[in-house]
Amino acid sequence: MIHELFLLLSAAVQPSLAFPKLTGKDPLGLRAFTHIWPRHSATSNLATNSNGSDFLWLPQDEYSGPSFFDNFTFFTDSDPTSGTVHYVNQTLAFANGLAFFNETDGTVGMKGDDTTWLPEGQNRSSVRITSNPQYNTGLFILDLNRAPWGCGVWPAFWTLGGGQWPFTGEIDIILMHDNEHNQVTWHTGPGCTLLQEANYTGTVVGTNCDGNIPGNAGCGITEWSVASYGPVFDEQGGGVFAMKWDETGIAVWSFYRSAVPNDITIGSPDPANWGIPVASLAPEACDPLTNFVNHSIVFDITFCGDWAGNSYATSGCPGSCSTRLMDPTNFVNASWSINSLKVYKKQTITSTVSSAIALRVSVLWFSVSVLGSLVMYLSW
Ligand SMILES: *[C@@H]1O[C@H](CO)[C@@H](O)[C@H](O)[C@H]1NC(C)=O
Ligand SMILES: *[C@@H]1O[C@H](CO)[C@@H](O)[C@H](O)[C@H]1NC(C)=O
Ligand SMILES: *[C@@H]1O[C@H](CO)[C@@H](O)[C@H](O)[C@H]1NC(C)=O
Ligand SMILES: *[C@@H]1O[C@H](CO)[C@@H](O)[C@H](O)[C@H]1NC(C)=O
Ligand SMILES: *[C@@H]1O[C@H](CO)[C@@H](O)[C@H](O)[C@H]1NC(C)=O
Ligand SMILES: *[C@@H]1O[C@H](CO)[C@@H](O)[C@H](O)[C@H]1NC(C)=O
Ligand SMILES: *[C@@H]1O[C@H](CO)[C@@H](O)[C@H](O)[C@H]1NC(C)=O
Ligand SMILES: *[C@@H]1O[C@H](CO)[C@@H](O)[C@H](O)[C@H]1NC(C)=O
Repeated sequence: MIHELFLLLSAAVQPSLAFPKLTGKDPLGLRAFTHIWPRHSATSNLATNSNGSDFLWLPQDEYSGPSFFDNFTFFTDSDPTSGTVHYVNQTLAFANGLAFFNETDGTVGMKGDDTTWLPEGQNRSSVRITSNPQYNTGLFILDLNRAPWGCGVWPAFWTLGGGQWPFTGEIDIILMHDNEHNQVTWHTGPGCTLLQEANYTGTVVGTNCDGNIPGNAGCGITEWSVASYGPVFDEQGGGVFAMKWDETGIAVWSFYRSAVPNDITIGSPDPANWGIPVASLAPEACDPLTNFVNHSIVFDITFCGDWAGNSYATSGCPGSCSTRLMDPTNFVNASWSINSLKVYKKQTITSTVSSAIALRVSVLWFSVSVLGSLVMYLSW
């Protein structure tokens, strides 16, 4: 019982330590205060594993505010997807405003160059960043105001395995399908299949996940909603994309701003409350623990290339992709605006805890929160 109490306590105390970042536009530290405050409900997202043990999703890493880019590396090689793009280094990205922290509204931005006229065929500058931390399972929650879109623009928010591609897997969480629908896609080594009978609301566009197959389509699911991506998504203030990866599979949910579940907002997420996911890869036909290993988080914006270039003619876009690329005004919407990216870690609690203990811990947690917040508030 002492052991259980300790586990729950450490589970409860951890969140206040895990997301300690304060942002520049919040001189009183009030955001941190309100951020921590509601977490007295951290015990409310207790969920149960298939073997009967309980678990919580606890904060592990947060990427947001002025330190957002500290844990990312700027990718500067030529684009593996053959985009007509020049991925610039961090110095150049910051100098040219292609990556920035906006002090006015606290958001993080990344964008393609939308000011330079280019001769036909020349690469347009843009950014691609990779997280230094690598993950093996987790709950990844991206809060966005807008995602890049436009003719010839091919952005993605994805995770990529650390070993030899595709054997350590790739999970494309946000990948433009057209300018309206998001597509979730998995790429793996041989032997992975997307089951059609699993629960998701999207439409299957491929079931063999093997990235070695010529064309490398992977297995994917497009969202049904026209607001899952592009102008309509941006117009309603964006929203939240969540990707859950654990031994029970990999699933993606997307929420418009107005429909973001409260458990996400208060930092105590529980996917069990979110309904049927947009897309999911069931574990029966694709082991999520062996096919996906050491994943970094990646954001990028490329142009034309393997997807946007090849699908250009059929996408209703004017002219050709290479002429489209010359005019910077075509790229005014090719930008990410990010509020935060939070990664949660599954914390199993070894035995069932009685509700009496949970309540007591909840009260204790509440006190610890208030104290912690006060200390942070005063020391700020
Ligand atoms: C129950 O399952 C979880 C998730 O797979 C695992 O972490 C935990 O160790 C298991 N507990 C027991 C008692 O087997
Ligand atoms: C991110 O970088 C900061 C330094 O800016 C470091 O203190 C922190 O531990 C890093 N976080 C992770 C998850 O690597
Ligand atoms: C443009 O980018 C491609 C890779 O996407 C690279 O192979 C090529 O050398 C670049 N061209 C110039 C002029 O930098
Ligand atoms: C960044 O890229 C620019 C242009 O290619 C180059 O001149 C500069 O040395 C690079 N800076 C770093 C820190 O790599
Ligand atoms: C920063 O945020 C303010 C307020 O939302 C906005 O008006 C401004 O355009 C933003 N700056 C950049 C570079 O995005
Ligand atoms: C994953 O990372 C660990 C630690 O860096 C390493 O030992 C292991 O070989 C990596 N696995 C693969 C499949 O790359
Ligand atoms: C789909 O979800 C329903 C309700 O959550 C559940 O009863 C059913 O078993 C699920 N089907 C599959 C194939 O996972
Ligand atoms: C950018 O977005 C605005 C608002 O949706 C739209 O009116 C405009 O046509 C877009 N421009 C480009 C080049 O996509």
